[in-house]
Amino acid sequence: MLTENEARDAIIIALDCDRERAFELASLLDGRASWVKVGMTLFYRYGPSIVDEMRAHGLKVFLDLKVHDIPFQVKGAVRSAALTGADIISIHGLGTSAMIAAAREGAEEAAELCGRERARLVAISILTSMNEESLAEIGIECPIAEEVARLASLSYAAGADGIVCSPQEASAMRGMLGPEALIVTPGIRPLGSDKGDQQRIATPLAAIEAGSSKLVIGRPIVQAPDPRAAFESIVAELTGA
Ligand code: C5P
Repeated sequence: MLTENEARDAIIIALDCDRERAFELASLLDGRASWVKVGMTLFYRYGPSIVDEMRAHGLKVFLDLKVHDIPFQVKGAVRSAALTGADIISIHGLGTSAMIAAAREGAEEAAELCGRERARLVAISILTSMNEESLAEIGIECPIAEEVARLASLSYAAGADGIVCSPQEASAMRGMLGPEALIVTPGIRPLGSDKGDQQRIATPLAAIEAGSSKLVIGRPIVQAPDPRAAFESIVAELTGA
């Protein structure tokens, strides 16, 4: 179980919606939520200002752009992404150690340039919408847990602060990476909610008990008839209230 502050700080609301709805949600959850996730849907349309505007609402921002390219490009991309003021940025573990190390350099340069704390980097392992069949489709013929562990260990060793994985791998990853690693888990579904396209899922409490540091939750809050009630019921689940 978490304290109320820990619970509020553990939930990252995925704003996969348009700008108007994103600000409506930020107002609805004002003073309750600590984190939002700005992903490609918002960022590609509205650009860096959306990060600034969310921070002006007192929210911390996970900028989930899943950066994946050659190291030179990734260094520049992460430097630019970090200059937005984002607190956490995602990059792809599949980009290999050289790419992760370049991302880390980009984040460090941005921190120096703007005199802020360095943005933390989390490496995507295997998307939570994928299962063993989809992994085989791209030619990776090994159990998901093994591939997640490989990408997590290379990413962490190369300078990522943590990883993104499904709650089903969180416990093994916590054991492997230790207590300091940032373990971010999407694929969170409160009991009775629709799974959608997610495959490797768990409830909020099960994910925290498995060792997740942060839970990325989108549709169960954003598409709920009452997002504030949906958010508060997850907080209650995590605090045992
Ligand atoms: O709506 P839902 O709760 O399924 O949203 C999950 C969010 O987490 C989405 O914004 C998606 O981009 C993100 N995500 C994911 N799997 C990953 C990394 C990020 O589902 N491996």
